[in-house]
Amino acid sequence: MEEKAKLIMEGREYELPVITGTEGEKAIDITQLRSRTGYISYDPGFANTGSCKSAITYIDGEKGVLRYRGIPIEQFDTKIPNFVEVAWLIIFGRLPKKEELQHFSEKLTRHAHIHEALKYHFEGFPITAPPMAILSAMINALSCFYPELFELETHEQFEEAAARLISKIRTIAAYSYRSSKGLPFIPPHPKLRYCANFLHMMFSMPYDLYEIDPVVEDALNLVFILHADHEQNCSASTVRMVGSSRANLFASCAAGVCALWGPLHGGANTAVIEMLEQIHKGNYTPEDCVRMAKEKGNPFRLMGFGHRVYKYFDPRSRILKKACDKLLATLKIKDPLLDIALKLEELALKDSYFTEKGLYPNVDFYSGIMMRAMRIPLNMFTVMFSMGRLPGWIAQWKEMNDDPRSKIWRPRQVYAGEKERDYIPMEKRQY
Ligand code: SDX
Repeated sequence: MEEKAKLIMEGREYELPVITGTEGEKAIDITQLRSRTGYISYDPGFANTGSCKSAITYIDGEKGVLRYRGIPIEQFDTKIPNFVEVAWLIIFGRLPKKEELQHFSEKLTRHAHIHEALKYHFEGFPITAPPMAILSAMINALSCFYPELFELETHEQFEEAAARLISKIRTIAAYSYRSSKGLPFIPPHPKLRYCANFLHMMFSMPYDLYEIDPVVEDALNLVFILHADHEQNCSASTVRMVGSSRANLFASCAAGVCALWGPLHGGANTAVIEMLEQIHKGNYTPEDCVRMAKEKGNPFRLMGFGHRVYKYFDPRSRILKKACDKLLATLKIKDPLLDIALKLEELALKDSYFTEKGLYPNVDFYSGIMMRAMRIPLNMFTVMFSMGRLPGWIAQWKEMNDDPRSKIWRPRQVYAGEKERDYIPMEKRQY
């Protein structure tokens, strides 16, 4: 028997359907609310609102569970799956057969170069241009070279667009770094795997090829895998919002880059390091940070802590903390920021302000320390997050576009402005 929710308003009783998800989570279906009652719902920030049904990622925020297409992320914390395989899983819904993965990998290799004309765009940016501004601009610029991919009618066209985006975001990211340093572009190497090729394009020199350290390659693989999707987060919802108007995949992902840029979202990995560096320079102590984070009215936030959905440990931060320890030990790097991060975590998790509000380290708390160890510059950290998250954005866009019932996203509002009033000619305005 279908479960119902009862709503009693102005003496009338309404029954609303209840939707139950795969893992038993419940939702009240309010799709008929306004037409039946004249009322709308009100939920700024959408903390209580489901925008869609999705089969891509499952999160249990209370238990710290994260699964991609049903597979717990802890199972990816091994050498076996690589980022490209997990990207295929997230986009197409199951683990690829050997020949499917081979076919997709070959596409990524073939599409790693960017059009020669695109390279001139880098010269148009000031050398201080934020890499996230370059990335969002270049993703849209990229689409101008593939007008045939504006409309993705077939599986082959979609796979082509997905492969071009996933492969070329890596080249665009590396070239934005090279351009900012006045370094020559290093073309992608046809024999290197996804992460190794990125490191090669970032750090090789014409006279001295970057030596791929498997430990660094594996660590980067893991960072990308753990960022690959996270259900209806701000940037994924932005991709869906933009894509719901039937905007093309490139424009939708470029919008996702812009949403991810914010320090409350993907920009937090950069803000965490800036906070740790402030402590390291002696401008603050860890105790100061915890105190300021707790002060009512103080805008200071303990960056890398808290999450809209996780009210317990973000499972990604636990995996990254372990991987961070291993990476620094293997590379024999002693990063004082790691010691400060561990001290901050220890202080916060002993403090009821954080535990009672469910504020635990999130994905951004340790990822930045790992990227420092890989010599990724600080202003590229959120670009790295974008590279990891791109398969998730593509998957979310595809899932929405594959749904024949999907409609343009157009939320309502509660109007809080002036009542009706008349225009006042300039000469009569007294204020
Ligand atoms: C990501 O959504 C996703 O899935 C995102 C993400 C993904 O993979 O896509 O997981 C990636 O964006 C991770 C989050 C990265 N951001 C940060 O680390 C920035 C610091 N964190 C916060 O700004 C905050 O925790 C958010 C933005 C992450 C979540 O904010 P919410 O859910 O809107 O919660 P809130 O701001 O309303 O805070 C609730 C309370 C408030 O106190 P009260 O007003 O109730 O007294 O908790 C406090 C906040 O002041 N609080 C913090 C805090 N985070 C929340 N206090 C101090 N430090 C913090 N970090």
